[in-house]
Amino acid sequence: MKILAFETSCDDTAVSIVEDGIKVLANIRNTQTQHEDWGGVVPELAARLHADNWKSVLNQCLTEANLTINDIDYIACTQGPGLQSALLTGTTSASFLSLLYQKPLIPVHHIKGHIFSVFLERKISDIKFPNLVLTVSGGHTQMQYWESILDIKTLGSTLDDATGEAFDKTAKMLGLGYPGGPIISEKAKLGNRKKFQLPRIYLDKESLDFSFSGLKSSIYRLTEAEKESNYYKKNNKFSDEFIQDISASFEFTIAKIFIKKINRVLEKFPEIQQISFVGGVSANTYLNQEIVSFLKNRRNNNQTKLITPKKIKYSTDNAAMIASLAYFLVKENPQIAKIQFIDAQARMKF
Ligand code: KG4
Ligand code: ZN
Repeated sequence: MKILAFETSCDDTAVSIVEDGIKVLANIRNTQTQHEDWGGVVPELAARLHADNWKSVLNQCLTEANLTINDIDYIACTQGPGLQSALLTGTTSASFLSLLYQKPLIPVHHIKGHIFSVFLERKISDIKFPNLVLTVSGGHTQMQYWESILDIKTLGSTLDDATGEAFDKTAKMLGLGYPGGPIISEKAKLGNRKKFQLPRIYLDKESLDFSFSGLKSSIYRLTEAEKESNYYKKNNKFSDEFIQDISASFEFTIAKIFIKKINRVLEKFPEIQQISFVGGVSANTYLNQEIVSFLKNRRNNNQTKLITPKKIKYSTDNAAMIASLAYFLVKENPQIAKIQFIDAQARMKF
């Protein structure tokens, strides 16, 4: 079964074709670099660029797969959550194709889509259940109990900023570019991870929620104080050493918070077989290494292993994960796929 999927929830115009939920026949993504000048995504600009780009991204995708729309069994698209005007370009394009070519359309939830990114280029049996999912992106930080393929319950979420957003804001405060995650991760490699003691908010003893606003405020205070240093006054920018140490201490703190929360879940649900780390932040090498080493050294280790999307391009926003989830949804319930026009849902429920 071949599914053609669209993903336009934020600043990537992405179109993919995936066969049977796992085999990626084509995966094209056009990342809108125009937002860099603004230090974050400008929703109206994103929508305009999606509208300009979707047809050429679709054509590239069909060419790469060596297929025409007639060869496609279903169309899928991200319905939400995300930026309303950006989503609308994807839902409208997908609906238009559904009506024009009489192809059933499957609406998909973006965060659930991220979870299914672990299936891409793997065997379905590689994913073990029950599974603990850490879904960490620019807009979301959540943990889910993934009982079986379509049975997913949220255990905890961030109460304020998402982790990716904290990476992006930290980069902005340091005068670095956007998106901040890859830049901070590069700078951190040369820094002292223990230079700055940053707040680790664990919330109540039992809590599986997250909070990153205190971490952000603490970095704001440190950068404001550093602006009084001789180096900053002379050069009107932060020293490499300061940037590297803040980046390293920031990553160290995020790793400690994730590990604490994963440990709480594993103690509460010892039956968990595997941990999936998905979403843009799962592209971070240091966080991956820290989680793997924690699992290896854990007392009473039951061999719970970490699994992440097979390639970095499946961690960050992409349409292949949307096609994968659509495959499992339509297999379970063929009625959800209809020749239809769907609306975007910026706040779509999980
Ligand atoms: O999943 P994604 O592409 O889009 C959303 O659904 O939000 O995630 C984007 C986020 C951005 O905040 C970006 O800074 C972060 O993922 N990110 C990273 C890395 N690569 C991307 N964060 C940490 N380390 C990385 N290597
Ligand atoms: Zn995403």
